[in-house]
Amino acid sequence: MAAIVECREDGFRKIFKFYKRRSPPPNFSDVFDFSKPTTSDKVVQVKMDPQAVSDGDAARVGLQPARDWRVFNLKGYPGFIFINNPFLRGSQAYWVRQCLKTYPRKPNVCNLDMHMSPGDTQDIWAKSVCNLSRSGGKREPKTLLERLRWVTLGYHYNWNSKTYSPNHYTPFPAELRLLSHQIAAACGFPGFSAEAGILNYYRSDSSLGIHVDESELDHSCPLLSFSFGQSAIFLLGGTQRHDPPTAMYMHSGDLMVMSGQSRLLYHAVPRIVPAPQEVAVVEPSSWGSDQQECVSPEDWAVCSEYIQSSRINVTVRQVLGQSQSFPETTLEEEHQAEGEDRSKRRKGGYSPQQT
Ligand code: OGA
Ligand code: MN
Repeated sequence: MAAIVECREDGFRKIFKFYKRRSPPPNFSDVFDFSKPTTSDKVVQVKMDPQAVSDGDAARVGLQPARDWRVFNLKGYPGFIFINNPFLRGSQAYWVRQCLKTYPRKPNVCNLDMHMSPGDTQDIWAKSVCNLSRSGGKREPKTLLERLRWVTLGYHYNWNSKTYSPNHYTPFPAELRLLSHQIAAACGFPGFSAEAGILNYYRSDSSLGIHVDESELDHSCPLLSFSFGQSAIFLLGGTQRHDPPTAMYMHSGDLMVMSGQSRLLYHAVPRIVPAPQEVAVVEPSSWGSDQQECVSPEDWAVCSEYIQSSRINVTVRQVLGQSQSFPETTLEEEHQAEGEDRSKRRKGGYSPQQT
């Protein structure tokens, strides 16, 4: 009996540790893989409303026509939507380049700003590429790109206070807003507005602790999550911290939408795993619309080397409900939050950690 109680209490942590374990490596046979045919009665394939997103709008952001997407629900998780890589062949390269070259630039905020001056983190890409070409194969100190862990967009997330502030906002990237809008609309949320983004950069030994995303002020809005590069084991739990989770792969190009009753479920990423050969051809192709410049061969060389050992996760959030505004926070409160011990953020288990 005692054993059962203990097992229940630690249900999520136990499974998290199981998948994180290096030696002996865990058995992955219970991990759902939506890129493969399944016989599980927990997985339900669903169709998108073909009217919600036009083929032209989808193509403009690098997506296949919505009627061709392979979309799944999971029994027991109402509102959780998994979209198996809906990107057009060759279009992922554009998003990878945006995540590595464009989004870390000022005025966006990244982990390196915590201990470097804005001048030094102004253009992480340019500095890293410059160092890469100079190294001539010698072992050099890690580039800034290799040290990048997170970037925030729009309403910048304050990791200490776990809040978004109306006073710290920079324009949300238009093309990522459009991509998010199309996906949300296809999933039945035409009013979704991308207001905040958190990009996580995982190395092969990174993990993301068990958490709920509840800092947004309106939880009726979905949370979108994109994955590029190496694969991840994603654990989707319940409303209680200890509820045992379901494990699934997230491969490059895959999308998750957490909405409805699944919006506030505990989740975590215990492990990064090598991308299977057969999924996600991410190389750039002739795809590229008016708005989206093609990825140059020089840029792609840097991006492809990066994603050979790393994973990029982009989460897009709507912070405020329709006609909702931020509660009155005094400046004093905000300063207090700023001044708190920064190590608290690391313990929060929110951004990817190295092991
Ligand atoms: C997050 C998150 C999951 C992932 O950033 O809040 O849960 O797949 N990311 O990396
Ligand atoms: Mn999360």
